[in-house]
Amino acid sequence: MQAKNERIKEEYIALSEDGRVPFYRFGPGPFGLPGTATRTVVSQPENEPCGNGLCDICRAQGCRERQKIEAQTEGTPCFKVSGMRRISGRVRVHGAKNSVLPILAACVLCDSPVHLKRVPRLSDTGVSLRILDSLGCTSAFSGSEAVVDASGFYETRIPDRLVREMRSSVIFLGSVAARAGEASLCLPGGCELGARPVDLHLMGLRALGMDIRERGEKLYATHQGLRGAEIRLPFPSVGATENILLAAVCAEGKTVLRGAAREPEIVDLCLFLRQCGANIVGEGSPTIYIEGVKRLHGTEYTIMPDRIEAATLLGCAAVTGGKLELDDCAPEAIGSLLAVMRRMGCRLEIFRSSVRMESPRRLTGAGVVETAPFPGFPTDAQPVLTVMGCVADGETRVREMIFESRFKHLPDLVRMGADIDVCGREAVIRGVQTLTGQILHARDLRGGAALVTAALAANGESRIYGLSHIDRGYERLEKTLSSLGADIVRIR
Ligand code: UD1
Repeated sequence: MQAKNERIKEEYIALSEDGRVPFYRFGPGPFGLPGTATRTVVSQPENEPCGNGLCDICRAQGCRERQKIEAQTEGTPCFKVSGMRRISGRVRVHGAKNSVLPILAACVLCDSPVHLKRVPRLSDTGVSLRILDSLGCTSAFSGSEAVVDASGFYETRIPDRLVREMRSSVIFLGSVAARAGEASLCLPGGCELGARPVDLHLMGLRALGMDIRERGEKLYATHQGLRGAEIRLPFPSVGATENILLAAVCAEGKTVLRGAAREPEIVDLCLFLRQCGANIVGEGSPTIYIEGVKRLHGTEYTIMPDRIEAATLLGCAAVTGGKLELDDCAPEAIGSLLAVMRRMGCRLEIFRSSVRMESPRRLTGAGVVETAPFPGFPTDAQPVLTVMGCVADGETRVREMIFESRFKHLPDLVRMGADIDVCGREAVIRGVQTLTGQILHARDLRGGAALVTAALAANGESRIYGLSHIDRGYERLEKTLSSLGADIVRIR
């Protein structure tokens, strides 16, 4: 054990010198479980909790925190899942949450109605439509189609209660201020994934000529006419790229955005904006060129498929030994996930717009997987990968490089019998034969979906609380999974 500790210590000293693990300390096994290794990481400064429920301080607070969450969720809806049913069949994924949200924000810029198809019915979509209504736009949502008419737009204050319901509503700052010359909204503040600052959004918008003042928790943006600029993002933030695009499409002159995010949802937003009359080239590459136009008009547009829903369903099939055919799912958007699944023993047939996956009797550990901006492994698919690792034969090391608090689902997986250590940004998962059903609590959207995935693979019954998180990003997940053979019901 001593020798093992020394080796791990050396490894992490090297990492910390690299600036990747800010601070480390050796202590009792994570989650206080016997038999797990002795690595523990505390956040910096030392007396602050890491927020993942995994450091000494979080563990000490764990019971209280858990009791609090249990009290909060008592009597709220939950999923009842009986595990070990094979997830198999054929399904078409819904439209992408991360694409529809910026596109709804972009509707503010259009002076005639926008007709959107394949719109996912999510609580976040509902919040975006309520924001549009509060700004004086009209919207109608029926089935999977929405029509937004921003011709009556008059209000520039985005209501605090809606911003607090959906942290990504900061995306409205660029479009509202660009259209009206002013906008205000409250700062979303810390969130379940960590601090989630908006400094890059503000830097980009200021470069375009916006005067943005921060007073307390509020942001006030005004301008006398936006002008194109040369902007370089030090990190390819998805939200900042979107906000800058929304402000630049109607600015005077040319904008060159370097270091832009390359996510498929950015490409979808640019395709939409171009269809509305914007002048953009280079999306999908790190440099996007925008030439401002006077105004945008309405259009009809179909939202791209949700690559994270696709990843989640593939994960559910993979941990239950299933066979899945995903139709119309944009395989090129999930290339890095498919590569990891192949490494874990899944057989894949990839077509132009669909994927066929057959999982082995038991997955093989994935080795090291590091999340990264697109085209790297998506942070949103990381929680479901950890579940695949939990039941695989061998080791999976997952390094979360995008958000600092994205391991909150791991303590629940450990309660199900998983063997996991966390060291800073890395989760070391040694696969076990089976997980056991438990009472589980979702603490964020993708972590919640991972708990559902784990429950499907587990022996016995699980209940998953905190469905408000899951409903933010999955349209009737229980319905989709039931159609693929899962035993899952929503209990109200
Ligand atoms: C979007 C997605 C989210 C996904 C994430 C990364 C939506 C609605 N959400 O979130 O599902 O997990 O991309 O693919 O599309 N950062 C800063 N300053 C900023 C902005 C970001 O430091 O001004 C940091 C964040 O704290 C985070 C990292 O950059 O550590 C990535 O954030 P970003 O790419 O902006 O993610 P979001 O747009 O918030």
